Amino acid sequence: PPEQKGKNALPIPPLLEDKNPADDVAEFYLKAQKSTKSFLDGVETESYGYNGDYLGPVIQVQKGEQVKVHIKNELGDEETTVHWHGLEVPGSADGGPHNAIKPNEIFSPSFTITQPAATLWYHPHPLHKTGEQVYKGLAGLFYIEDEVSNRLNIPKSYGENDFPIVIQDRNLREDGQLSYDLNMMSLMHGMHGDTPLVNGVFDPYLEVPQGKVRLRLLNGSNARIFQLKLSKDNHFWQIASDGGFLEKPVKMDQIVLGPAERAEMIVDFSQYKQGDKVQLFDQDVRLMNFIIGTPEKEKFEIPDQLTTIEKINPPSGTVTRTFAFQGMGNSVNINGKQMDMNRIDEEVQLNATEIWEITNIDNGMMGGMGMPHPFHPHGVQFQILERNGKEPPENEQGWKDTILLMPGDKVKTIATFKKDGVFMYHCHILEHEDAGMMGQFEVN
Ligand code: C2O
Ligand code: CU
Repeated sequence: PPEQKGKNALPIPPLLEDKNPADDVAEFYLKAQKSTKSFLDGVETESYGYNGDYLGPVIQVQKGEQVKVHIKNELGDEETTVHWHGLEVPGSADGGPHNAIKPNEIFSPSFTITQPAATLWYHPHPLHKTGEQVYKGLAGLFYIEDEVSNRLNIPKSYGENDFPIVIQDRNLREDGQLSYDLNMMSLMHGMHGDTPLVNGVFDPYLEVPQGKVRLRLLNGSNARIFQLKLSKDNHFWQIASDGGFLEKPVKMDQIVLGPAERAEMIVDFSQYKQGDKVQLFDQDVRLMNFIIGTPEKEKFEIPDQLTTIEKINPPSGTVTRTFAFQGMGNSVNINGKQMDMNRIDEEVQLNATEIWEITNIDNGMMGGMGMPHPFHPHGVQFQILERNGKEPPENEQGWKDTILLMPGDKVKTIATFKKDGVFMYHCHILEHEDAGMMGQFEVN
């Protein structure tokens, strides 16, 4: 890991400008491009970014808005796609491997925002190349706001008390370059790195108001599971999971985030003096430093109630599907099958409510490695009915689009499929996805 600890400010990505003057329409321009960025003092590292050198701008939209995005592929000679992770849109706009953008071409999906306020994200999804393109820097956050998020008395000033926090791990080789070299280890366990980055910077600091602060956390790593906690016995109030607000804030000493999972947290810094430092850790690795600044201008609450979430009840005769995650290295598969673009694995009726039971059958005992697999279906937010036969923990009782399955875990989810088209479901360890731990479902 690099030397320069704690001396760089946390970069706050720009909010992408809406170029359409109409009130209920938003129009955005994104460019996937090659660039260089200095991760280490004095070394230029080759990187990818959206409209910049690494990562991308934050896209913010309102529920009900008609959204159009123009994405240009300026990566040179490779194809890419842009997938809206967690967004409920038709398969034709979803940005999966079928929506490949050839070099120098533009893809312009449009869709209406029909789901509640949430912190989602976008990233490339080309067949077999997702891991490498995300690793080099292609990813960004996508915020939905609605009447609930606009009404709640919680921090919501972007970059002042409401911060995007994208956590990743990367390998910077001795020559300072990002190495994406697949070997036995990285194929097996996914690509891990020894350098933790937050918003693309190693061990940054962030000055925060002396008061309540909202952190929108994304585990944007290819494969690493983060176990996040704060120093000084401070704690978090989790207010949102992947797909939006929880009904009530949940007090947490730590939070485990699998690849692609998000959590919105409120942290109270009002008990500290100006200049004090609080740190964010992944187990015992320091990720970033908060420096307490001047007192907050507005007073915020930890609301008793954030929103109401209607529990989806399985109607009688509900279709139940089972998905078994297994295998290792190049043989990772779901239900014994590997990804085939020309094969639809599951046919779902439009507007049907279904129960999906996902099992990580590699419990490490039958000769397997006992590997975790985060499950993610496109185009839908689900609820968790059961985790290993029990009610899920409080912070998993809201909307989810990615669910971490540790070896041997079994999770029962329920969802209503409201958008039509062809969608992916897969492991979000990107090297597993690229190796074929992915399938397709069609809603119509
Ligand atoms: Cu985050 Cu299939 O994607
Ligand atoms: Cu996996």
